[in-house]
Amino acid sequence: MDPTVTEILCVVGARPNFMKMAPILRSLRAFPEIRPYLVHTGQHYDEDMSRIFFDELGLPAPNRDLEVGSDSHARQTARIMSAFEPVVEERAPKLVIVVGDVNSTLACSLVAVKLGVPVAHVEAGLRSRDRTMPEEINRLVTDAVSDLLFATSADAVENLASEGVPPAKIHLVGNPMIDTLRLHLPAARERRTAERLGLKERSYALVTLHRPSNVDQLENLRRIMEALRELAGKIPVLFPVHPRTRERMVSGGLEATVGLRLMEPLGYLDFLSLMDRARFLLTDSGGIQEETTALGVPCLTLRPNTERPITVTEGTNRLLGDNPAAIMPAALPLLDGPLPLARCPALWDGQSGGRIARVLAQYLGVR
Ligand code: UD1
Repeated sequence: MDPTVTEILCVVGARPNFMKMAPILRSLRAFPEIRPYLVHTGQHYDEDMSRIFFDELGLPAPNRDLEVGSDSHARQTARIMSAFEPVVEERAPKLVIVVGDVNSTLACSLVAVKLGVPVAHVEAGLRSRDRTMPEEINRLVTDAVSDLLFATSADAVENLASEGVPPAKIHLVGNPMIDTLRLHLPAARERRTAERLGLKERSYALVTLHRPSNVDQLENLRRIMEALRELAGKIPVLFPVHPRTRERMVSGGLEATVGLRLMEPLGYLDFLSLMDRARFLLTDSGGIQEETTALGVPCLTLRPNTERPITVTEGTNRLLGDNPAAIMPAALPLLDGPLPLARCPALWDGQSGGRIARVLAQYLGVR
């Protein structure tokens, strides 16, 4: 390998990783001495959960696809680790970058640190303090073994500091997912996805649900679908369905809920287009809490807690708890009237990828 080039491994695995990695790779182009080698673990593999995001976000094709697929947590994590270890040994990178809080994030950071390769974690320090969430375990472990911790907001920095992480390792860089949102918003708006679906702007609700705590128990999912059916009596409800949720709906016979517009998972641009023009979102996603805050669109989150409290204190997010009975009382006041005022958090300005790239370059000593 060219001795003037420093190779780093960049890991993506699941849908929410792609929009976080894209601006980092784009910003690294300003540092030709750093060569990113993109590894896709294959945690998500369906065309509409993976491939479409590479196309729409302009991500380069992965240099390596580990093709691990779905499995139980232990088996999926172990498969990713087994497949990633030889890649690290072969490439001997100077650094491994992981993003977010999915099983791929955890698995690849463990492999790297055990092979003596420093880890950079993008989206470090977020804490729901709910250890029943698999993502919380992934966040805690990944941060504990990381050498560079990139935080999206000041509360994340405080969490890391209170856990004893030395300040020199922590970099407040803002939110790279919002870089992606700002870059693609004009193209998303041009798609006029709502109009193509026969809907006027601010006249529909958009729903996503996939957390095990909401969809894995049939009785709970049935109560959620009942609340959505009631909501659909007041406003059109669009619901692009995650494969995990679809499986549970099909096995529970809940697919035919009257009034709901159930859809296949959408690509990035169509989803952003719909989110931007929605009356409000109902979700249990982490990323959507942040994206609606950046867009100033109301967000109701069907969870008792959030690792992203800034979306509540500064943004448009409201936590409903985990009782589906809370959906209608929270949704009704949003059906008319002006949108709430929200502030976009500091550094969610579209420049986070550049900040991350500059810290990486300095850390790697290339400039
Ligand atoms: C994973 C992440 C979660 C993230 C979510 C975004 C973990 C622990 N969870 O959850 O944090 O919010 O991605 O989507 O890493 N499936 C398909 N096709 C796919 C992918 C999944 O059909 O391309 C189905 C499989 O039946 C699979 C199920 O969805 O068993 C769940 O997939 P998995 O990757 O285990 O977790 P997610 O629920 O997607």
